[in-house]
Amino acid sequence: MLVTGNDILIPARAGKYAVGSFNTNNMEITQAIIHTAERLRSPVMVQMSEGAIKYGGQDLADIVIDLAQRASVPVALHLDHGSSYESALRAIKMGFTSVMIDASHHPFEENVHETRRVVEAAHAMGISVEAELGRLGGIEEHVVVDEKDAFLTDPEEAVQFVEQTGTDYLAIAIGTSHGAYKGKGRPFIDHARIKRISELLPIPLVAHGSSGVPAEIVQRFRDAGGEIGDAAGIADEDLQQAAQFGIAKVNVDTDLRLAMTTAVREVLQKTPKEFDPRKIFGPARDLMSQVIEHKLRVLGSVGKA
Ligand code: G3H
Ligand code: 13P
Ligand code: NA
Ligand code: ZN
Repeated sequence: MLVTGNDILIPARAGKYAVGSFNTNNMEITQAIIHTAERLRSPVMVQMSEGAIKYGGQDLADIVIDLAQRASVPVALHLDHGSSYESALRAIKMGFTSVMIDASHHPFEENVHETRRVVEAAHAMGISVEAELGRLGGIEEHVVVDEKDAFLTDPEEAVQFVEQTGTDYLAIAIGTSHGAYKGKGRPFIDHARIKRISELLPIPLVAHGSSGVPAEIVQRFRDAGGEIGDAAGIADEDLQQAAQFGIAKVNVDTDLRLAMTTAVREVLQKTPKEFDPRKIFGPARDLMSQVIEHKLRVLGSVGKA
């Protein structure tokens, strides 16, 4: 069933597990996300960025909405990194049941102002809202507290932000970062900060940039002719611990991109005569399903729907 973000995330926060929010850009990705969640009896969120909306438009949103409505588990369609009030409203008109307004690069007061406008409009239509405070970026464990404080989310500021905006869930900067290069070796995740924020705030917390960038898939990508540098992702143990401390929504895009492209490369490399798209994108969908299954198990959402 198609539900709001709150319907999925409030029970997750209360139950000390996290829900995967996976980016989609086409039918096969959407099927992998929703069908894997159904198979594992897990709630799930499907998110489209503004780039995904530009690429797939209402056609893609309708695929997600139709699969979600027919799904045997709760599914939300979420706008990822909405950049403006207009963008958030457009998504709601398209049928999204959850929207992110990301004004985190603006000064605090402007972030509050933009977020509050979106919250007022979205709540009037029964749609829940994600906002972000802090700046995402990899940090080293030995970095001094002052430097961490410069861009990781400040707990007291987070409380003020939520009070002043009424956002339903909050994305926080805790050491994760977008893409396939999250740092040298195992990226440092500031668990003390997550714990402090969750003690002060009862709402679901969100971790962006949470792909695991599995070494095995990176190697397969290379073996199939792909070029990738010192790739590194967030460790499973870090996500498990974060879910215990209030992270209820975990964003994953890079892992699915990598899985899809790796499988496509492998088929094309092994069977140069193949040109049936189903023989190319079928294995890609299967490999994405494996990656999604692993993530849902790590996050603890399996069996919760
Ligand atoms: O955080 C960004 C997501 O990975 C979406 O990326 O804007 O290229 O679709 P995109
Ligand atoms: P990754 O790049 O780690 O997959 O993060 C995706 C994300 O945060 C989308 O909002
Ligand atoms: Na998001
Ligand atoms: Zn993100």
